[in-house]
Amino acid sequence: MKTGIKNKNIILGVCGGIAAYKSVELLRLLKKEGADVRVIMTKNAREFVGAMTFEALSGHRVCTDLFADSDDASIKHIEWASVADAVVIAPATANIIGKCANGIADDALSTFMLAVTSPVLLCPSMNTNMYLSRPVQKNLEMLASYGYVITEPGAGELACGTTGPGRLPEPPEILDRLICCLTPKDLKGKKVLVTAGPTREAIDPVRFISNPSSGKMGYAVARAAEHRGAGVVLIAGPVNLTDPINVTVLKVSSAQEMAAAVFNYMEQSDIIVKTAAVSDFRPKEAAKQKIKKGEKDEATLFLVKNQDILKELGRRKKDGQILVGFAAETEELERNAGKKLEEKNLDMIAGNLVNHPGSGFATDTNQVTLFYRNGTKEPLSAMGKDEVAHILLDRVLSVISSKPSVISSEASRIL
Ligand code: PMT
Repeated sequence: MKTGIKNKNIILGVCGGIAAYKSVELLRLLKKEGADVRVIMTKNAREFVGAMTFEALSGHRVCTDLFADSDDASIKHIEWASVADAVVIAPATANIIGKCANGIADDALSTFMLAVTSPVLLCPSMNTNMYLSRPVQKNLEMLASYGYVITEPGAGELACGTTGPGRLPEPPEILDRLICCLTPKDLKGKKVLVTAGPTREAIDPVRFISNPSSGKMGYAVARAAEHRGAGVVLIAGPVNLTDPINVTVLKVSSAQEMAAAVFNYMEQSDIIVKTAAVSDFRPKEAAKQKIKKGEKDEATLFLVKNQDILKELGRRKKDGQILVGFAAETEELERNAGKKLEEKNLDMIAGNLVNHPGSGFATDTNQVTLFYRNGTKEPLSAMGKDEVAHILLDRVLSVISSKPSVISSEASRIL
């Protein structure tokens, strides 16, 4: 599936609120992602940020007035509405929310909003009492029923001095929601369980055995599945990443903790993707206190094997459940990944050479080869982990289309 907002026509609506400065950063992010962005500002928005800033960053004239005397101005609301792939209004004030909900068209932005048919992401931002007021909440409900996607405002101390919901989400979050709006929901109704990151096996209270997994690959799979409409549970080892929006995230540390969490959710999951780099061994006993260096030049650590979580999942796998593994290899990718596919009873395994630049641990890109149960393989070129995640989910859907789901509706409701 082609995802993201590269080459998409995005209309950014900016209203008059203190958070209007954040829409400048949002525009910069959208441009960085390769979107073509046109900006429509309300009169009040120009009290907070100048149109010139948006013009310079977007590379287009900004629409501020339906009747402005410029080539670009005439019937823009119709012209731009017909080419828009998506609209984002950030910040969305009580005023534009009220106008959109009630079909009022008295300026460029509100008129455009009546003409547009593409997905709309509305990002309310205002004083807490205004946001919680019955008219605004009623209007938001109405807009949600029309299919507008509405972001939850952040809570905290606002510029007006009140404390509570009303803050505009940060631009990366708005970008994520916009990408979600543009992503077809072909995993709607599916429950996806993803594991990510490393595990830590304690040696003593201050030392542990681990590996360089950053969690990026697993988080990309969780994010992609959520964007495609799945209910997602992400079980993550210690990582330093922002939790994906709208995903249930469970943080664990050791392989044993990860195993317990995974087995807890496995029954109700249609698709399980095990991206985590689970430690194969753990110290037989973790010392209660920090181990002293002592006089000897050598020390011995007794290790015991951790349970192979994926193998156990493969053993318990139900008909219709899809199990995807990852294989981190430094040599003989095909042989090693193929062996894991068979031994762990997987439907698919993504093999990656972790000693190659731009592939494996902690990079933003990955180069994987997908191995399938029927003995075929699909080498992919190096690409962003988000892209890898989407291709992997495309292939999962192909496998599903040849397998009926037997997860009970009872189990599905638990997630
Ligand atoms: O997190 P990043 O920095 O983005 O890096 C991504 C990645 C390199 C971690 C990822 O692409 C990857 O390769 N993940 C699998 C890492 C791994 O543990 O591979 P393995 O070949 O040792 O294990 C094979 C499979 O068995 C994996 O799906 C693993 O989750 C699972 N396993 C392994 C051991 C164990 N005790 N329990 C398991 O479930």
